[in-house]
Amino acid sequence: MNLFSPLTLGALQLPNRLVMAPLTRSRSGVDGVPGDLVVEYYRQRATMGMLVSEGTYPSAAGQAFVRQPGLVTGEQIAGWQRVTAAVHAAGGRIIAQVMHSGRITHPETNGGHTAVAPSALAHDGESRTYAGKRAYPVPRALETAELPAIVEEFVQASRNAIEAGFDGVELHGANGYLLHQFLSPTSNTRSDAYGGSPENRARLVVETTTAVARAIGAGRTWLRISPEHNFQGALETDPADALATYAALADGLASLGLAGLSILHRDPSGSLVQDVRARFGGPVLLNSGFESITTLKDAQDILGWADAVVVGRPALANPDLAHRWEKGLPLNEPDFATFYTEGAAGYTDYPFWSN
Ligand SMILES: Cc1cc2nc3c(=O)[nH]c(=O)nc-3n(C[C@H](O)[C@H](O)[C@H](O)COP(=O)(O)O)c2cc1C
Repeated sequence: MNLFSPLTLGALQLPNRLVMAPLTRSRSGVDGVPGDLVVEYYRQRATMGMLVSEGTYPSAAGQAFVRQPGLVTGEQIAGWQRVTAAVHAAGGRIIAQVMHSGRITHPETNGGHTAVAPSALAHDGESRTYAGKRAYPVPRALETAELPAIVEEFVQASRNAIEAGFDGVELHGANGYLLHQFLSPTSNTRSDAYGGSPENRARLVVETTTAVARAIGAGRTWLRISPEHNFQGALETDPADALATYAALADGLASLGLAGLSILHRDPSGSLVQDVRARFGGPVLLNSGFESITTLKDAQDILGWADAVVVGRPALANPDLAHRWEKGLPLNEPDFATFYTEGAAGYTDYPFWSN
């Protein structure tokens, strides 16, 4: 099997196994509407096997970042329709990452809403808001009776994504945002059926994924997780507990027939990832995390342990990454200074290979 062989993921046929990672770029309007630049950015990258959009919020309270796009309003859906049409016209496939921030936000970013989370525990550190850097607030702990409405936010945003022309959705259960906050014992200290044991902490993610799969079809539904990433305060430092939590999650998903499970973990060949993969039973997409930028060699190695490879910064900096890697061509280097800034610089101006 090689990176440039085709792959079926649920309802989609990918021409290669390179999946563009979800990458927050903060180039949409303050109203959460993706505009012309965003259309151009995704269109340029359509030769990847599949694109995963940046994290998009399913409710105003769930917005994490300034200039982040949403999947809530009619204008946002219309903006995304232009993006998906451009990607499809260029021969590509694109799914939407649906991401609720949970406690990783601030009222100065999300329109004044109180942050919500499994437990009333603030994340240490500062959020970049429209008003400058601010300490993360203490979130309000969600009542048990409110959780069906959170599930419904993900379902409605997923329906909106399909209306916007996306080929499917990836639910963001990774990197310390709301769903991951439920999975981790450091951000979830609840005593109801959604806290405590590994099975209980996995419950909301299983329920949300099940509900979305029912609403838009399992063949169009992905979930992203990042076990033991220990990022943004969602810590999983006890290996036995992490294994039990993600085993419970994988067991809960196994019968759904999802299009895929995307796993971010520094050790793709390790026992946790491969145990989760075996329990899940469906296609697995892998990324080895932030520590070093994925190289072609990394991608080839990772493919020994997964069905597809999720690639972030090289795809950010190389719109024609699939072509460059297939031909062994040199790469543009990503410019970290422009990851989250405004405008075309460091966004749509990375050159294509010109020979
Ligand atoms: C600028 C930037 C934005 C990111 N935004 C997201 C995001 O919105 N959702 C997500 O799940 N991961 C996000 N990530 C993580 C990437 O998807 C990926 O896992 C990470 O960049 C490591 O892979 P790489 O070495 O191939 O870049 C982001 C990473 C970067 C560098």
